[in-house]
Amino acid sequence: MRTRPLKVALLGCGVVGSEVARIMTTHADDLAARIGAPVELAGVAVRRPSKVRAGIPQELITTDATALVKRGDIDVVVEVIGGIEPARTLITTAFEHGASVVSANKALLAEDGQNLYAAAEQHGQDLYYEAAVAGAIPLIRPLRESLAGDKVNRVLGIVNGTTNFILDKMDTSGAGYSEALDEATALGYAEADPTADVEGFDAAAKAAILAGIAFHTRVRLDDVYREGMTEVTAADFASAKRMGCTIKLLAICERAADGGSVTARVHPAMIPLSHPLASVRGAYNAVFVEADAAGQLMFYGPGAGGSPTASAVLGDLVAVCRNRLNDATGPGESAYTQLPVSPMGDVVTRYHISLDVADKPGVLAQVATVFAEHGVSIDTVRQQGKDGEASLVVVTHRAPDAALSGTVEALRKLDTVRGVASIMRVEGE
Ligand SMILES: NC(=O)c1ccc[n+]([C@@H]2O[C@H](COP(=O)([O-])OP(=O)(O)OC[C@H]3O[C@@H](n4cnc5c(N)ncnc54)[C@H](OP(=O)(O)O)[C@@H]3O)[C@@H](O)[C@H]2O)c1
Repeated sequence: MRTRPLKVALLGCGVVGSEVARIMTTHADDLAARIGAPVELAGVAVRRPSKVRAGIPQELITTDATALVKRGDIDVVVEVIGGIEPARTLITTAFEHGASVVSANKALLAEDGQNLYAAAEQHGQDLYYEAAVAGAIPLIRPLRESLAGDKVNRVLGIVNGTTNFILDKMDTSGAGYSEALDEATALGYAEADPTADVEGFDAAAKAAILAGIAFHTRVRLDDVYREGMTEVTAADFASAKRMGCTIKLLAICERAADGGSVTARVHPAMIPLSHPLASVRGAYNAVFVEADAAGQLMFYGPGAGGSPTASAVLGDLVAVCRNRLNDATGPGESAYTQLPVSPMGDVVTRYHISLDVADKPGVLAQVATVFAEHGVSIDTVRQQGKDGEASLVVVTHRAPDAALSGTVEALRKLDTVRGVASIMRVEGE
């Protein structure tokens, strides 16, 4: 074993960084044995230097992250600050100064992965980011390496623990969205400002990363269609139950049937209770992958939290250190297919539409005509009358999203349609 240690600069020592530092210290001997050289924490950059940080010698703490990454003797920079800047500049500066980078930063990878990869390649360094998607769950490496010989057609994932906790609560207790969100906040599953989670921004960043890796193309955050889950109601869950389904916020990345394009989207969707993703409870994450040769694979586990996320960071750290000792680098960006990302209107799926209509003869025929005129074929219709008004639940066969949007627009113009109570896609069949 090499005795000269590999030097690690830790940028950020919050929820994830503090656990990375702890595991590096407590597992130091095992890490050294697995890597073939000891790893040494050479510096820790933070914002508030006076904060007490258990187990980290005060002399390692600095507020000057730039100076730390420019030192020239750093082998690996672990970036767990988050956000776009200064993380982006610090990562590129690290490459320029001869360090490889391990990051957990989904926002940055989704926004600017292409340029980060280019900078890593230019300077002969590694860029690893297993922790950026679904915390502890090994997903990036299986997609990037284990499935490199296969053809992935679809990735369907629950990649945000906060929203899964809320939806699971609504499902199991009959609670409304606000009540379930309050409980998630009280238990620490939701942040004080839950927008990034409940509006699907966090999941959209992960969808962009997953789609890019799965289909060997470039998918940016702007390419991902996004709908949050704040409009999901207890009534939607009741409808889902009647269909033998539950509701999940899904990140869905698909290769088009003709193979010529891809789509990436995040929205709430009904999935059959028989689908493996339906049984993912609480704040857990899971990603279902469909590949030509492998068939169906499911990756499941804790998608966030300091210790689980640090596990993924440490796995990357070991891989990058091993590469370094071998004077090698791991896989870089693979975007050779250059498949275009199609708009949401091209996505083909099934829909569950709930309408409030007048309870009088001929309404059903009128509604059915609108669907037919837009080329959307109806699978089932359920009608329930109440005091001159009625609710009509239509489940369609597979149809393009654009056709469904046109249908709904036309339905809203019918005198007999009082309102469109909900539209939900049906996935995983
Ligand atoms: N938390 C999770 O469960 C989780 C899961 C997966 C991925 N991630 C990703 O991991 C990254 C870190 O998340 P986190 O939850 O650990 O965040 P956090 O608890 O807010 O920690 C951020 C750390 O960065 C430091 N920092 C902020 N601005 C800085 C600056 N300009 N220079 C130097 N240090 C600075 C902070 O210093 P102070 O300590 O002095 O404030 C803090 O130590 C993010 O990219 C996040 O998306 C997190």
